[in-house]
Amino acid sequence: MFKQHFFTLYNGNKIPGPSTIGSGSIYFKHDEKDYNPNLTAFLVRSFKDLKGIIHIDNAACYKTYPEMADALKENFEKGYKTRKEIWFTDKFDSRGARDADPIINVNETLKKLNLEYIDLYLIHHPILNETITKDIVAIWKDCITLLEEGKVKNIGVSNFSVNDIENLIKETGFKPVVNQIEWNPFLFNQSPGIYRYCQDNDIVIEAYGPLSPLVSQINGSDTTEEGKTFKVYLDELASKYNVTDTVILLAYTISMNVLPVTTSTKFARIEDAQNFVNDHPELALTKEEIKKITDLGLKHPTERRYRGFTDHYTQFENESQKL
Ligand SMILES: NC(=O)c1ccc[n+]([C@@H]2O[C@H](COP(=O)([O-])OP(=O)(O)OC[C@H]3O[C@@H](n4cnc5c(N)ncnc54)[C@H](OP(=O)(O)O)[C@@H]3O)[C@@H](O)[C@H]2O)c1
Repeated sequence: MFKQHFFTLYNGNKIPGPSTIGSGSIYFKHDEKDYNPNLTAFLVRSFKDLKGIIHIDNAACYKTYPEMADALKENFEKGYKTRKEIWFTDKFDSRGARDADPIINVNETLKKLNLEYIDLYLIHHPILNETITKDIVAIWKDCITLLEEGKVKNIGVSNFSVNDIENLIKETGFKPVVNQIEWNPFLFNQSPGIYRYCQDNDIVIEAYGPLSPLVSQINGSDTTEEGKTFKVYLDELASKYNVTDTVILLAYTISMNVLPVTTSTKFARIEDAQNFVNDHPELALTKEEIKKITDLGLKHPTERRYRGFTDHYTQFENESQKL
């Protein structure tokens, strides 16, 4: 029985989770002109064949608007998904050029994609490229304006620390609905105390890199004993529930009240991730299993897959594996 899974934002809106199509990481490119037909085809296939709401995680800096535009056009022409069956997240390019400006950028994006609104708009990073003329508070105020105009339905942040979020609230009185951060059992706190702060303040955490503990085992980059022990336990649970390791990690993420943002180049993996929560809402790990995953994760040294992009956070290495 298909039943769409949602997280509820503090404003009452419901956001479908997990997000199974991240157009960053494996699809990231430096120039819109480097068109990737595989991404377009992947999106179209997802619209056509996946059940439920397709939650796409996009960003201006991924340079994927041309593929998005073509896939959305084909989708609407062929009548696969309605607009309400697509959740489109986009992000302000904090590392962008001098003219990066939320209001100008969102208006251009809506035109490029032939959409009337963006479901969720995030400030990609609190540290702005020094060539951007507006400061972070002015950018957040622009996001609020876009919300009031209905061009975006929800606004949030990404890679923000507790202080970064408190600053926005102090200056504008407006709290983000979401903070998208790198998060998994080997990285519970991208910055000090951010997991608990978001949970306590009703800000939904979206996890990018939720599969890192698995990916680093499979590609051999994690040679620690703790990593191996963790994988053995994942395998044990996967076999108990007759699902993949991916599903166990995603189910764990959701059990920790965190919305996973995952992606793959392989359709079967996307289908697996999209279907599991919705088709199997009864797949609930026991309290003991959740605790054991947490405990094994905490024993593992901090692991950051996105060190280059977020090198700012390596200063918090000793505080990241605490809950
Ligand atoms: N806000 C930010 O600053 C930020 C930063 C980074 C990422 N993001 C967003 O988050 C999205 C997801 O990030 P992520 O790529 O780190 O997510 P992830 O879900 O942790 O990792 C995805 C990777 O896992 C591999 N994978 C999936 N299932 C697997 C399996 N069963 N066995 C082995 N490998 C498997 C995929 O490879 P295959 O293709 O081979 O399946 C893919 O390379 C990005 O696309 C982007 O939209 C945001």
